[in-house]
Amino acid sequence: MGGMDRIALPASALVVLIGPSGSGKSTFAARHFQPTEVLSSDEFRAIVADDPTDQRASRAAFELLHLAARRRLERGRLTVIDATNVTRTSRLELVALAAETRRPAVAIVLDAPLEVCLGRNARREGRTVAADVVIRQADELSRWLSGPSGLADEGFAAVHRLADPARIDDVTVVRVPGRGRRATGAGTIAATGSDRLVDRRTAR
Ligand code: CTP
Ligand code: MG
Repeated sequence: MGGMDRIALPASALVVLIGPSGSGKSTFAARHFQPTEVLSSDEFRAIVADDPTDQRASRAAFELLHLAARRRLERGRLTVIDATNVTRTSRLELVALAAETRRPAVAIVLDAPLEVCLGRNARREGRTVAADVVIRQADELSRWLSGPSGLADEGFAAVHRLADPARIDDVTVVRVPGRGRRATGAGTIAATGSDRLVDRRTAR
């Protein structure tokens, strides 16, 4: 912590982590947030199926994850979604949830190089994700990131994109009081010092 990249989060934000398996989402979440603030798809698969890898449990797991997120956001509790979120549909569902509860949604993209994600998965203890799955996730994400609007048309209040693994490790997360900007589909990107700013918009 204490690095030069600084991410400012409204205290009641919905924080959407985005990145392929091995990009370091769970590591990032554990470093910067309280355990109760983090809702992970693995944990909810385990809750419904006793197995964090059971993909057949994904639908039920996300149903509960979204409900848990909604109940937290209604209380103004900062909430972090630890799931790959590489598909547009998964992100839009979360942005809609934030909008419905009148909270800002902030995207943090862990856009680590594919080789880094693959290497970490290969060396990992316990659960590992197959290389072809990681490649597919990275392809899907880069398709959206390289599109004409990046993730900027999805309704996030801010999109922070970090690509350099060393800088991902060194980022500083600060919380700013207040509600911040709601996820209404129009927002101003407020990132400072991120690797690359995906977009800078003003309210429509
Ligand atoms: N890791 C690492 N250095 C980092 C981040 C992660 O060595 N800066 C290691 C972790 O210790 C773990 C592996 O890389 O063994 C994957 O990191 P993790 O945070 O679990 O990645 P996720 O993005 O959460 O992967 P998944 O989607 O599969 O849960
Ligand atoms: Mg994880």
